[in-house]
Amino acid sequence: MTSKPNTECYVYIMLPGETESVTAGRFELTKDRRGDAVGRFVYGKSYLARANAVAIDPIELKLSGNTYETTRLHGLFGALRDAGPDHWGRRVIEKHAGVVQLGELDYLLNSADDRAGALGFGLGQTPPAPRRKFNKTLELAKLQEIAEALMRQEDLKTEEAAQVQDLMLLGTSMGGARPKAVVEDDEGLWVAKFNRPNDPWNNTRVERAMLELAKSCGVSVATSRIETVADKDVLLVKRFDREKTGKGYTKSRMISGLTLLHADEAVGARDRWSYVLMSEELRRVARDPKKDAPELFRRMAFNALISNIDDHPRNHALIAKEREWKLSPAYDLTPAPQIAQDRRDLAMAVGDQGRFANAKNVLSQHTRFLLEEAQAKAIVFDMADKVRATWYEVVRGQGVTEKDAETIKSAFVYEGFLRE
Ligand SMILES: Nc1ncnc2c1ncn2[C@@H]1O[C@H](COP(=O)(O)OP(=O)(O)O)[C@@H](O)[C@H]1O
Ligand SMILES: [Mg+2]
Repeated sequence: MTSKPNTECYVYIMLPGETESVTAGRFELTKDRRGDAVGRFVYGKSYLARANAVAIDPIELKLSGNTYETTRLHGLFGALRDAGPDHWGRRVIEKHAGVVQLGELDYLLNSADDRAGALGFGLGQTPPAPRRKFNKTLELAKLQEIAEALMRQEDLKTEEAAQVQDLMLLGTSMGGARPKAVVEDDEGLWVAKFNRPNDPWNNTRVERAMLELAKSCGVSVATSRIETVADKDVLLVKRFDREKTGKGYTKSRMISGLTLLHADEAVGARDRWSYVLMSEELRRVARDPKKDAPELFRRMAFNALISNIDDHPRNHALIAKEREWKLSPAYDLTPAPQIAQDRRDLAMAVGDQGRFANAKNVLSQHTRFLLEEAQAKAIVFDMADKVRATWYEVVRGQGVTEKDAETIKSAFVYEGFLRE
């Protein structure tokens, strides 16, 4: 890698139904007179001339000949930031490059071609051929070993070429903080999520159980399964932004809830983190708001019922397989056992009383989720009954130990949820 950070790149996109990318436009990262980062994006003329051209993002980068400019997010547009790695992938790239501070563009340019969504980045005017080879599920044991070495960091000798190559095998571009890799089997591509040595319970089995529990509560969730390699459990979540075809993979565009909300992650910039606002924004861009807004309501209620306080906007996404956008299946559902019985707060506001994970609060803005009061109440109270009555058998059915079930018990339908 060169020592000077890159300041320009081409943005590629895989159009709906296609299995090869085309160049969508050009992105430039500069500084203004005060030294603050400014990002500029412009769609290419030949891209705009395509009958099947689609917008990279339905909010900030609508299809037009305009030059778009942003000073938010270190000059990155939300949709570009969403395509980049986050804590885990950044660590892989830094370790690989032997550098700790890279420019924002370097992370995009150095991440593998398995990032979420349909975008790609490069220095060439034409996109490289799509990646055809992926790690196989059969290689999970090796991938897990590499991920564990990176978690132990000190054991990892990046000067050894073989290990540097190994690191890149992990694939680096999916977001999130947990160790992960992308793997392929006959059905398609999966996000493989590994346990961490210091996890207080078997996260893999608990997360899989939460996806199943959510499904039984009528939430639309990502397909998942568990693979056990070398005595360790790995959660495989089917990628909902990829579809296997005879010619290769198609890619759906994807933006995070953060981008949908025009929000960012900085502490102090979280006033827009809200399910209510998210529903409003979703209704503006979704093909079928009558389906998606109530679905978001269900997820909010479910998160409150399992004390999933990690329900931040990057754990929600919109996808577009064709031209139009919809809410993605739910993913990354984790219970957080707590002692407090009076009040628990989600990461995003749910109603009139802010982030308070409480039935009355969840119900307070039901109209903004396109639900009548009676419908909203039925969803919330039926779900509360279901979670209370079945969480234990669902987690045990997924192989969660009695001890772990006991540890997470206090996460489910805590007292304050039903308090008036
Ligand atoms: N099944 C999936 N298909 C496509 N993208 C996914 C899928 N699951 C997660 N992602 C993307 O990967 C990111 C990280 O996954 P997540 O499960 O949230 O991991 P973490 O527990 O590390 O936060 C998500 O924010 C989302 O952008
Ligand atoms: Mg996450």
